[in-house]
Amino acid sequence: MKVVVCRNLGEDAVGILKAKKELDLVVWPGPDDKAADRRWLLENVEGAVGVIVMLTDKVDDELLDAAGPSLRVVSTMSVGYEHVDLKAVGRRGLKLGYTPDVLTEAVADLCIMLALMASRVNNGVSIVQAGTWRDYSWKPFGFCGPQLSTTSPSQTRTAGFLGFGRIAQATLRRLVPFGITHVLYSGNPGSPPDSERDAALQTQHNLRELRKVDLKELARESDVLFVLAPGGPSTYHVVNEEFLREMKETAVLVNASRGTLVDSEALAEALGRERPRPFGAGLDVVEGEPNVGAEHPLVKEPRCVIVPHVASATFETRTAMATRAAYNLVGALFDEPMPSSVDLSSFQ
Ligand code: GLV
Ligand code: GLV
Repeated sequence: MKVVVCRNLGEDAVGILKAKKELDLVVWPGPDDKAADRRWLLENVEGAVGVIVMLTDKVDDELLDAAGPSLRVVSTMSVGYEHVDLKAVGRRGLKLGYTPDVLTEAVADLCIMLALMASRVNNGVSIVQAGTWRDYSWKPFGFCGPQLSTTSPSQTRTAGFLGFGRIAQATLRRLVPFGITHVLYSGNPGSPPDSERDAALQTQHNLRELRKVDLKELARESDVLFVLAPGGPSTYHVVNEEFLREMKETAVLVNASRGTLVDSEALAEALGRERPRPFGAGLDVVEGEPNVGAEHPLVKEPRCVIVPHVASATFETRTAMATRAAYNLVGALFDEPMPSSVDLSSFQ
């Protein structure tokens, strides 16, 4: 039973796969810092029963045809699955595994880091790294930014979430000690808010407000705004020029979902203005990544902090994602439980 594995998954996950003696593993021979070569993948997938992919590997008709009728499962080591053509997978009756839950806490940690960096770092790290700190004497309003935490109990701060799933709720839990008392969210237009869940969260975190709102109100009212919705065509450029124009001058924007949700050019423009709006941005993902070079308008923008898609990059979490991907594959092939699978019934 051939299984194609698109990257080195680490000892734990490989151990899970090797424990099944029937499996014949074909692993992308590297270099490991490059995505599996498409031609290698198309050639090697023929006759495979399963394939473990990353978000850098496109799963489409071409790949599935190359695999042929032997294929039973696609397992992605990611929570997002925009790189997978769900219709193509569902139509063939294949199972699709993914890795939610295990990365929630690591991503929420990074969301807080990006919010703080976007509001406070404000070019400070780059001047120190450039060796030019000596040119900037300490001064009353040097490197100032808006404060994430409240400065008095009477002050109110609103956190906004574009997408209010597991990661957003874990981020909210971290924000409560900063004094956030108002929470607004948008997402799934057309579906009603989950009022039971919202009431429970409001009580649990002692919030004065927790409400689903439209995009305009979300942009207008948020002091810190987290973009945490899935990518794909339905969320393409939801944060566009019009959205950014509504944001507060003191707000910060964080994106830890997919680069496609934020219009990079519009954001660079908004941050580069004489009176920027929002104040700053912290991005884990950027459209077109990893082709984001020194000439990119957001890379050059001092109010924008960018890290290279590392929200889940802790040893603990990446190991958990890799092992989850392995268990998903094994579960599908050996009629064992599949810990996390995408419901494809509407495509079958
Ligand atoms: C990372 O972006 C993931 O989808 O897991
Ligand atoms: C800052 O370093 C202060 O002493 O206030």
